[in-house]
Amino acid sequence: MDDFKIDEIEKKIDEAFQKVSSLEDLERLRIFYLGRKGVLSKLTGRLPKFSLEERRKMGIQINFLKQRIEDLLQDKEKQLKESLKSTQPIIDMGLPGITQPIGYMHPLTQVIEEICGIFIRMGFSVIEGPEIETEYNNFTALNIALEHPSRDVFDTFYLKVSSSNSKHQKLLLRSHTSPVQIRVMMKEKPPLAIVVPGKVYRPDAVDASHSFMFHQVEGFLVDREVKFSDLKGVLYKFAQSIFGENIKIRFRPHYFPFTEPSAEVDISCIICKGEGCSVCSKKGWLEILGCGMIHPQVLRNVGINPKVWKGFAFGMGVERITMLKYGINDIRLFFDNDLRFLEQF
Ligand code: DAH
Repeated sequence: MDDFKIDEIEKKIDEAFQKVSSLEDLERLRIFYLGRKGVLSKLTGRLPKFSLEERRKMGIQINFLKQRIEDLLQDKEKQLKESLKSTQPIIDMGLPGITQPIGYMHPLTQVIEEICGIFIRMGFSVIEGPEIETEYNNFTALNIALEHPSRDVFDTFYLKVSSSNSKHQKLLLRSHTSPVQIRVMMKEKPPLAIVVPGKVYRPDAVDASHSFMFHQVEGFLVDREVKFSDLKGVLYKFAQSIFGENIKIRFRPHYFPFTEPSAEVDISCIICKGEGCSVCSKKGWLEILGCGMIHPQVLRNVGINPKVWKGFAFGMGVERITMLKYGINDIRLFFDNDLRFLEQF
């Protein structure tokens, strides 16, 4: 029984456990004592050499020792795990990341960018103007007569304040982007080729095709030799770029106070290709914009000599173009901001 040395083993245990500083060390210790070829199994293996009485005593001692080691293992493991928790952030690198929801560019913004891009490639520059305008820029300078119906309060939002300049002009929410023609031409010398995207306001009752705020893109070009055929060429190229190579366009005579001659431009119906359907009211054509040669009086109003300079201008509704392009049948969808709608673009 002398070479059994169980007391010595017992003494060394505490020391061994104290030195353990990691879970890996602890596992090594477990295997050293309790493994198949470990200290305890070696002790047990030697038991048959002893007498029955001795074996009984030693068996009890071995069991105690085993229990002790198991307790120590358990305590140490708990202790090590606790200290790991407090020093290391718990990061599971295998977890899938939390993706941020992706935003979408509003379809109107996309179409405004597309429209401006087409004109930029033809040599136009983009300029913006204010949404609050003077009555002079919005109407008078554009040759819109005092008695013109678009000036009345049912067609234009007038502000209660007036401008602080010496003329104390009435202020309003611009009803079209055309006043930016006036602003630019008053400041810049021709030749000019400008497009103007922006919001406009009209006191219309909201329904599937009307909104009190909508978007227009205005365009104008002033140079020495400008002909109606230049306007036709530019707008034909524009229509093809935005609606496809095979689109047809036609110019219908019309009236605008700020252009002479004036026209409205139709495209062949993109739904029925000109056959006649409910979208084009069986006409085969869809109106997309107004245009014309800048009226000599408008040029005079901004100090440009109409004998030397000519110009053309056009204006289009962005909502209308977008609705035709994507087959959208209700203008209110643009402003509801329902993600199920916006995500489709
Ligand atoms: N300002 C017009 C409107 O809001 C659109 C327009 C028509 C603009 C003809 C133009 C133009 O520049 O030449 O209805």
